[in-house]
Amino acid sequence: MLEQYIIRGGNPLVGEVEIGGAKNAALAILAASIMTDESVIIENLPNVRDVSVLLQAMEAIGVVIERLDKHTVKINGSMIHDLTIDKDYIKKIRASYYLLGALLGKYKKAEVALPGGCNIGSRPIDQHIKGFRALGAEVKIAHGMIQTEAERLTGSHIYLDVVTVGATINIMMAAALADGKTIIENAAKEPHVVDVANFLNSMGANIKGAGTDVIRIKGVEKLHKTTYSVIPDQIEAGTFMFAAAVTKGDIMIKNVIPKHLESISAKLIEIGCEVEEFDDAVRVVCSKRLRHTQVKTLPYPGFPTDMQPQIGVALALSEGTSIVTESIFENRFKYVDELSCMGANIKVEGNTAIIEGVSKYTGAKISAPDLRAGAALVLAGLAADGITVIDDIMYIERGYEEFHIKLQSLGAQIDKVTSEKEIQKFKLKTG
Ligand code: EPZ
Repeated sequence: MLEQYIIRGGNPLVGEVEIGGAKNAALAILAASIMTDESVIIENLPNVRDVSVLLQAMEAIGVVIERLDKHTVKINGSMIHDLTIDKDYIKKIRASYYLLGALLGKYKKAEVALPGGCNIGSRPIDQHIKGFRALGAEVKIAHGMIQTEAERLTGSHIYLDVVTVGATINIMMAAALADGKTIIENAAKEPHVVDVANFLNSMGANIKGAGTDVIRIKGVEKLHKTTYSVIPDQIEAGTFMFAAAVTKGDIMIKNVIPKHLESISAKLIEIGCEVEEFDDAVRVVCSKRLRHTQVKTLPYPGFPTDMQPQIGVALALSEGTSIVTESIFENRFKYVDELSCMGANIKVEGNTAIIEGVSKYTGAKISAPDLRAGAALVLAGLAADGITVIDDIMYIERGYEEFHIKLQSLGAQIDKVTSEKEIQKFKLKTG
């Protein structure tokens, strides 16, 4: 039997939890760290599966990787002997496309298997390609690979047609080592875009304006060594904030940047929670039935698409009718069927979910459809009456480090099990 989570719901989660480094910042920073021949040390790296997969792919092309401890890695990209990354496993993670920008910038050539990642809708890469072409690279897609090559990269003025985190970061990386100036307009403003720019600057790049709509990059000849600590994970933090909301708990979420959590805090306050901000922590307290609201996912500083399933789970338990509109990815309501098995009353029409709040969930046997939907269903299980068993938790482990252990430390009755015997044991222990 594959690993499952088993949960006995009903306990309010109370206590303190430490948030790790941001997965989506870390993946881009790891790829960018090969852009110098000197050694780079990355700290506050989340120990999650997507990170291990990317490190494995980097090792396969000759990058020397030394794990200094669970959250620190030393990377040296001076021995890269292969600019082609076509291993099957790399298709599993979307962030493999960051190796395109990094290798193209450094070696003016790269070939990477078309990216996969969570199946949350169609995920085109036209804006990445448009950016590389604007910098003077040729880009071809053949045999399931994206191939890109340039004699030289030249700075350019690029207007992105959609706000995309991936393309903004990829173009920023390649342009950091191009000749001359690049301007990216309509750039993504997510905290991890800023973190990658700060990281590249710490290696000697000249990038200004990250965090605004317009990023200006002056190409430099080469990059040098650095030691850099990844920012805290906005989505992991947001997930624990909603864990407090749905279990009527009281959680102090530590090692966060409260500014990055503002859109999440605002919605929690709207639905009836108390949110207290500290320098590097937020406390979420919820003591009464939640209220309905409306929410639409948007690029930062809007409400993140990666938090849509978690707020959906909270609103389905709230008083009244709520409306959730998903405007970034079309296939992010896959948790709705699972949640319906637990008693939720939700109708999805196109990119909108109409939610009639119910007063409780009941435990059920469900599956994690993708990373964030999976985490949201864990929250539902924690709020539900009785036992919930969740399959396919490898999706959740792509992006949450020791999720069940952190939840246990807050008083949740949750365990990872691999056999019917362990399930029975859990039921007896918690019954
Ligand atoms: C990143 O995906 C994250 N993944 C996602 O996190 C996250 O949901 C997303 O950003 C939005 O914040 C990684 O960082 C590895 P986008 P990405 O490019 O880069 C369209 C998670 O759960 N688009 O910002 O793929 C696209 O279809 C994952 O941790 C184009 O049209 O997202 C989408 O509608 C899931 N053309 C929108 O832009 C392109 O060339 C935003 O996508 C690129 C994107």
